Amino acid sequence: MSITPAAVDSLSSDSLSQFEESPLTSSTDAVAAEVRAGLTSTPKTLSPWLFYDEAGSRLFEQITDLEEYYLTRTERSLFTAHADEIIQRASQPTGDDSSPMLTLIELGAGTATKTGILLAATVRRQRTVVYQPVDVSETALAEASANIRDHIPGVTVRSQVADYTTQALPLNRLPNTRTLALYIGSSIGNFAPEDARGVLRNLRAQLLPGDRLLLGTDLAPGPAKTVEELIAAYDDARGVTAAFNRNVLTRINRDLDADFIPGAFRHEARWNPSESRMEMHLVSEAAQQVHLPANSAGTALHLRFAPNESIHTENSYKFTEARIRELLESSGFTLAHSWQDPQHRFAVNLATAV
Ligand code: AVJ
Repeated sequence: MSITPAAVDSLSSDSLSQFEESPLTSSTDAVAAEVRAGLTSTPKTLSPWLFYDEAGSRLFEQITDLEEYYLTRTERSLFTAHADEIIQRASQPTGDDSSPMLTLIELGAGTATKTGILLAATVRRQRTVVYQPVDVSETALAEASANIRDHIPGVTVRSQVADYTTQALPLNRLPNTRTLALYIGSSIGNFAPEDARGVLRNLRAQLLPGDRLLLGTDLAPGPAKTVEELIAAYDDARGVTAAFNRNVLTRINRDLDADFIPGAFRHEARWNPSESRMEMHLVSEAAQQVHLPANSAGTALHLRFAPNESIHTENSYKFTEARIRELLESSGFTLAHSWQDPQHRFAVNLATAV
């Protein structure tokens, strides 16, 4: 399972050469390759980036407003309560680097709905700030830019369409500035530990010592956080998450002309304690076959599903403080400070590039 979509990119091939080879194929080719690889493996899998077509992105926005989905509102409340302290700590001199101005870059910015809180705090401290949202979705970035521009004076937005997991980031280095990279929303949770390290190392390789990373991580169950509420966050009463999960099949039908019957698969959210992750599955209700016509990635496929056979569509890793520290330290960062809500559901972690 590859960890990223092929990127639409607006960087020069020169700036990419030091990074992992980046497939500049069309998005449909990337979907075809990913879907074939995943559905012919045992057990069957699909990569979570496939969720985010236009309908999927809209469904995800709805998820973030759900009562059961505590992640977004908890992280937002941590930003609201601690934004000034976060920015103050991120601005602290390290070594001979005296009171630098921060430039904020956001990985996987999406529509940047929570980022405004941090940008407003940065403007309070230093009057102006350059904000560089990076995302593979051009439409999300357009929305992000409009949101920020219209509501927070003092912010200069420089958005960039790119795949941050493999591509060069558009870092602009002015004298006496420091980069604060935002990687929030527990987006890191989609990656298995080794891949998560890869993403953070790719980021670290482009930063300078003393630059900062603000990493949002969902937390493992504990005394005040039950497995039940964790499961409910991925299996809400209104069925929005189920629709989000099944939408991947609709997307595959549209992009690859397959004949999935989305309603013939049931949504399941499972807690995997040994891997400390939530898993989403689409479970075949009955024996069925699905046909995938020949395409750029290969010949026609006849896929067979046994009753109750699952397609594993997502992992969402849940962290302990020890795991967060270990992930950061093995990627070239040290943990500087961590903010958690009183129930220890979510953590916002500030790290320094070593
Ligand atoms: C966007 C990866 C943080 O794992 O919680 C929400 C995606 N999946 N509900 C998460 C998601 C099902 C979300 N992330």
